Amino acid sequence: MAEKRIHNQWSSRLAFMLAAIGSAVGLGNIWKFPYITGEHGGGAFVLVYLVCVALIGIPVMMAEIMLGRRGRANPINTLRTLAQEEGRSPLWAGVGWLGVFAGFIILSFYSVVAGWALAYIIEAMMGHFQGLSGETSGKLFGALTGSPERLLFWHSLFMLMTMVVVARGVRSGLERLVTWLMPLLFVLLAVLVGYAMAAGDFSRGFHYLFDVNFSEVFYRCSPEGQCTFTAEPVLVALGHAFFTLSLGMGAIMVYGSYMPKEASIAGSTLMIAVADTLVALMAGLAIFPLVFAEGLQPGAGPGLVFVTLPIAFGNMPGGQLVGTLFFLLLVFAAWSSSISLVEPAVAFLTENEHLTRPRAAGLIGITAWVLGIGSVLSFNLWSGEEYQVFGKTLFDIKDYLASNIMLPLGGLFIALFAGWALTRRSAEEELAMRSPGLFGKWYFVIRYIAPAGITLVFLNATGLI
Ligand code: PFF
Repeated sequence: MAEKRIHNQWSSRLAFMLAAIGSAVGLGNIWKFPYITGEHGGGAFVLVYLVCVALIGIPVMMAEIMLGRRGRANPINTLRTLAQEEGRSPLWAGVGWLGVFAGFIILSFYSVVAGWALAYIIEAMMGHFQGLSGETSGKLFGALTGSPERLLFWHSLFMLMTMVVVARGVRSGLERLVTWLMPLLFVLLAVLVGYAMAAGDFSRGFHYLFDVNFSEVFYRCSPEGQCTFTAEPVLVALGHAFFTLSLGMGAIMVYGSYMPKEASIAGSTLMIAVADTLVALMAGLAIFPLVFAEGLQPGAGPGLVFVTLPIAFGNMPGGQLVGTLFFLLLVFAAWSSSISLVEPAVAFLTENEHLTRPRAAGLIGITAWVLGIGSVLSFNLWSGEEYQVFGKTLFDIKDYLASNIMLPLGGLFIALFAGWALTRRSAEEELAMRSPGLFGKWYFVIRYIAPAGITLVFLNATGLI
């Protein structure tokens, strides 16, 4: 009976792993991690982020995969049926809905940034990075983001690419794509770190990333020198842990629902988290030495990577090729992530509404594309203060709302569901960990530590405690 609900199944554990890594590794690692680290002062922020990944991200990812594999359906149905089986309220399905909405919001800005990467493939190929300096690189990027037409074109193209793969289904569409592209991205990042060692201020970049100085991150000072404590960076770090691991919205849950029964959940999770974290740290090591060597500002915002790396490509031997390849791979990484952003919604529409995959993809693509127009305009026509709320553009607001509020909230509910709504026996059976001691530790974390941690960070950042 349960098997009937499966839409698709990965051909092997390796295929699941690659797809999950494909989902996790994306713009979050290479675009977002460096720029938010730069905005929040470096090492202490990185440390908080790593703690969030280890203490909350990994246990929640295990919970998501476990629930998905047990429910064998889209997150909304999975949570509803599992709740029913355990005699709990059907309202738990609401967590699945929250995830579907978060996916739309994220895709509507993700696709615009992926569009930047698409545009930069052409820039690199045409040799436009040749001899760039910090200033000219900033101008090149400004010319792109300042043009609504260009942004709209690339955003549309990326959305179309995503929907074509989504329409074909995870197995034929996605598996092949990630199998060899992910390792290549890794190699290219290593080359860039090597370049940063040779040509950048490596030691300063390294210390910036890894020296922990809490006072710089947690105290915000006014121009008059008045400093007050703020816990907001912790919320941003926590939100990013969810974002980068694709957690809190059912993406990994739905991938888990396609996972073969015999694969180890704990082992897979650990490998996914390690690979994802390594890519982020390597991106940081490639970027910050150049930021300092070129006299750029680490806190420059969302354009940081797109302004910094072209300088490297424009000045290194063979940079035209390396640059083209890099943005090509960045697009692939973003592609395999964006597909997973809509998989919960696609699985819902095909399983519950009986739409075909192409139809579901079309419907979702058009909706996210329209929403994305707001993100496009945030960089040009709507960038002015009159269009901002609390100093944030629509683009910033969507990112903040989805990453720092919806995903951690989704993660909180998933932890509560796995730790409290599900019986210990069901969880133990599905996780099937070899060591009972290790299961006990996970169970403790998912019941107490993760929910308490997320709640505390929320309350703290909103100033309630
Ligand atoms: N993890 C992706 C990244 O780091 O780029 C973004 C993402 C994908 C977030 C899928 C959430 C998700 F469900």
